[in-house]
Amino acid sequence: MSRQILVTSALPYANGALHMGHMLEYIQTDIWVRYQRLAGNQCQWVWADDGHGTPIMLKAEAEGITPLELITRCKAEHERDIAGFLLSPDNFHTTHSDENREMAELIYTRLRDAGHIVKRTIKQLYDAEKAMFLPDRFVKGICPNCDTPDQYGDNCEKCSATYEATELKEPISQVSGTTPELRDSEQYFFALSKFNDMLSSWTASGTLQPEVANKLKEWLESGLQDWDISRNAPYWGFEIPDAPGKYFYVWLDAPIGYMASHKNLAARTGENWEESWKEGSNVELYHFIGKDITNFHCLFWPAMLEGAGFRKPTGVFCHGFLTIDNLKMSKSRGTSITIETWLKHLKPEYLRYYFASKLTGSVVDMNMNFEDFTTRCNADLVGKVVNIASRCAGFITKKFDGKLSEEYPANSLHDYEVFTSAKQIIGEYYEQREYGKAMREIMILAEHANTYINDAEPWVKIKDPDKAAEVQAICTIGLNYFRAIVTYLSPVLPDITAKTEQFLNTSLTLEGLEQPLVNHTINAYKPMMTRVETSQVDKILEETLANAPAEPVAASTPDIEPLKPEIEIDDFNKVDLRVAVIVDAQAVEGADKLVELTLDIGIEKRTVFAGIKAAYKPEDLIGRSTVMVANLKPRKMRFGLSSGMVLAAGPGGSDIFILTPDDGASAGMRVK
Ligand code: 2FM
Ligand code: ZN
Repeated sequence: MSRQILVTSALPYANGALHMGHMLEYIQTDIWVRYQRLAGNQCQWVWADDGHGTPIMLKAEAEGITPLELITRCKAEHERDIAGFLLSPDNFHTTHSDENREMAELIYTRLRDAGHIVKRTIKQLYDAEKAMFLPDRFVKGICPNCDTPDQYGDNCEKCSATYEATELKEPISQVSGTTPELRDSEQYFFALSKFNDMLSSWTASGTLQPEVANKLKEWLESGLQDWDISRNAPYWGFEIPDAPGKYFYVWLDAPIGYMASHKNLAARTGENWEESWKEGSNVELYHFIGKDITNFHCLFWPAMLEGAGFRKPTGVFCHGFLTIDNLKMSKSRGTSITIETWLKHLKPEYLRYYFASKLTGSVVDMNMNFEDFTTRCNADLVGKVVNIASRCAGFITKKFDGKLSEEYPANSLHDYEVFTSAKQIIGEYYEQREYGKAMREIMILAEHANTYINDAEPWVKIKDPDKAAEVQAICTIGLNYFRAIVTYLSPVLPDITAKTEQFLNTSLTLEGLEQPLVNHTINAYKPMMTRVETSQVDKILEETLANAPAEPVAASTPDIEPLKPEIEIDDFNKVDLRVAVIVDAQAVEGADKLVELTLDIGIEKRTVFAGIKAAYKPEDLIGRSTVMVANLKPRKMRFGLSSGMVLAAGPGGSDIFILTPDDGASAGMRVK
């Protein structure tokens, strides 16, 4: 029995371009959806733009257009990028739609009628010049916890404290630059606290990844706060039906947009969409999201659904962030690459494959390195996969009129079974979102196929007229291997799949693999994929850097961290800083970032693990002096004991500089 599955990805805000960080999630979703369809399941992907909220309102104002004009333009751009990256949603709608208004009003009304909405008067920061209440992210001030300046109104980037915007010291409106005032405001709250018990069991019932469930458990144990779902005018969103001048907070109607998109799709397909959302529905519902929005999807959303009498998700699949060279994507470093820029220089399938080869089912961040990207695409896709077809196709076309052997060589059937039986494990990996493992299994098959062709040497045998049938058989085997490999890769590589279907003159399905392709005419081979050139990657990076907004120097140096709170001289005196000579430096096997340093501090030698591998070759460090904290309590790391810490400056990754004292400072000297 085929499964019925409904899938969503997070809805991108309709106020800016899609970039590679977005694409990580969409590719993850697309591969899963395409795999489900390949496996014979009914799988629909409903999706939309997130079209409401203050940032959209203010961006439109800054551009001198209406919010509707802004979200209409962005939606068209997003649709272009979605098509460009070969994503296969069944519907891409918008939250600013009739269906969503209707569903948001329905859910709100049901929650209200069930007694889950409470009104409360709270104090909020008000920008008198702009005549608007300020969302937390539009006010900055001094952290009430650690006194770090320039912190947003919801949490401190320095000490991670969370607080109310009203607690910020010396708040400044980011909209007008003026000091906001405190005003009373009546707001509508969703009584989330009433759902604590339901959420405690739902989050622990296997619907979430264990690490996500554990994190939420901490929150649930300390008790959930009611959630403010209203915003005061002026606000770009839906007005609350029984509260003129109050609007639904964007995060109230955003996930409802999943239902609205489904409803909108159903108007075209005629399906009974409401059935999927009823309590007890046997349709599986999965949300793909980034780790930053787990609270909304794993707490607020299931509580809203339950409170309004709808079913809850079957699972929420949470992924980590994309980093480039171990750093957050940054416009000023030229690593915030838009999809539009990517597609000008490289085909989408390279990135689809690279992400697939690195994706796991966990929430850990994924790092991208362009050298690794280039090598992997060229070695795997061009060197191992496409190569199989190009090595076999010519003989079949030129010597056998495009015809494969009449029968599959009996003594090779056993080897062919190795290819067909791999379906099981590869399918399980796709299902669990362990795409990296799936790609490795597939590449092992590709290596087998290449070894087979190498050993069989059809290019030698073709010279002997007596061996013509043998050459035809070798190429038939090779092309059947190729068919299996591309079928397994089809969720990742839709374009190569289409080209292969044209070339092999057959559609690629899992069932089709049960019978090898024989006594069948194929089409002439046309090159399917070229190598990634470093120059193409360079162009992407150059264009991204050239498009980066010219920022004032202070704003373009986000790596300069604010000062830590003042300390006493006694605190400083506790730190024993010493000149250390690096007498040995070795890469640490299994650790991408670490170098194992042996440091001479005069009295003794120390082993210290330092995260500087991206910035220094270990051998270049030997003989240099640096400064270390010599009395830091030794820390047990996965690779050994680290006894101290070397001093370095910079945000990390390749931007890190070990401190070096002037010549003349010798091992063991105290640094004061
Ligand atoms: O974080 C974001 O980009 C939101 N626009 C995601 C919304 S997902 C869903 F809830 F609509
Ligand atoms: Zn702080």
